[in-house]
Amino acid sequence: MTKVSIIGAGNVGATLAMRIAEADLADVVMIDIAEGACRGKAMDLTDSAPIMGHNRRITGSKDYKDIAGSGIAVITAGFPRMPGMSREELFQKNSSVVREAAANVKSLCPQAIIIVVTNPLDAMTYLASRESCFDRRRVMGMAGVLDTARFTAVLAEISGADYKDIKTFVIGSHGDSMVPLVSCTTIKGSPVSKIFSQDKIDLALARTKNRGAEIMNLLKAGSAYYAPSASAYYMVRAIIKDTKEVMSVSCILQGEYGLKDVCIGVPAKLGKGGAEEIIELPLNGREK
Ligand code: NAI
Ligand code: 2OP
Repeated sequence: MTKVSIIGAGNVGATLAMRIAEADLADVVMIDIAEGACRGKAMDLTDSAPIMGHNRRITGSKDYKDIAGSGIAVITAGFPRMPGMSREELFQKNSSVVREAAANVKSLCPQAIIIVVTNPLDAMTYLASRESCFDRRRVMGMAGVLDTARFTAVLAEISGADYKDIKTFVIGSHGDSMVPLVSCTTIKGSPVSKIFSQDKIDLALARTKNRGAEIMNLLKAGSAYYAPSASAYYMVRAIIKDTKEVMSVSCILQGEYGLKDVCIGVPAKLGKGGAEEIIELPLNGREK
């Protein structure tokens, strides 16, 4: 699999294209209604290749036919959150964009795996699944990897531990009801509840939930994109390299965690078949 399509060459999409090419993972096609900017970014990224030492091709277009033959299609098209907006307020604006993208993936690359990034994430992933009619393992949303990274970053800051020594998962929906799994969180192998008081943990949870809004309020003209593109890159990499890593992704549940026909963040094993297996972790009462 050597071609990844990114539908939406905005902040997340173009940064993701750069990460994929610079890691020598795949050739990248970016699609955007803003054709000039999309082609310009593709040219600029292409000119970086001789310096960065990879030989990947990056192209930009507004014509969906260019996605034909892609192994993965990442949907980052749509409107970002602006200060004062909830992710849910984007539903009306972004649902037609995501439907159109998923319909094109279905007809032009019917074997592809879809990764949705557009907000509101879980609802948009559900729409992409309905529109494409793909097997549920081949449609997933990116949010849990990002929320888990944010919780890890906050815990590293308050504990002084290295990121690699912190093990945690954030599941649930990408929003205020996200569920950091405190019961599964360890720092250097010790349960976080043995290291910090409940008050301190609650503060870390609140900071994690607010992280996206905090960044957006600082940026003012859009929302976070470095960590979101890194998160999507991590998922693309796991699929292309068939790593079978377990990470938190938004999947359609059919009975797992007691939920049916719902799209929400859960730990899943990622490999060349997509979200190959949903992992059911034991949750405590509050987490359930
Ligand atoms: P952006 O505004 O920089 O880029 C969006 C791009 O989509 C623009 O280039 C725009 O021209 C393009 N676009 C709009 N309608 C289109 C259409 N019909 N067809 C093709 N392209 C179209 O926004 P950014 O920051 O890249 O965010 C993209 C989306 O990802 C937003 O909905 C944002 O809320 C979401 N997001 C989700 C995250 C997550 O954790 N799931 C994290 C960060 C962003
Ligand atoms: C974030 O969490 C906007 O969903 C995006 O940064």
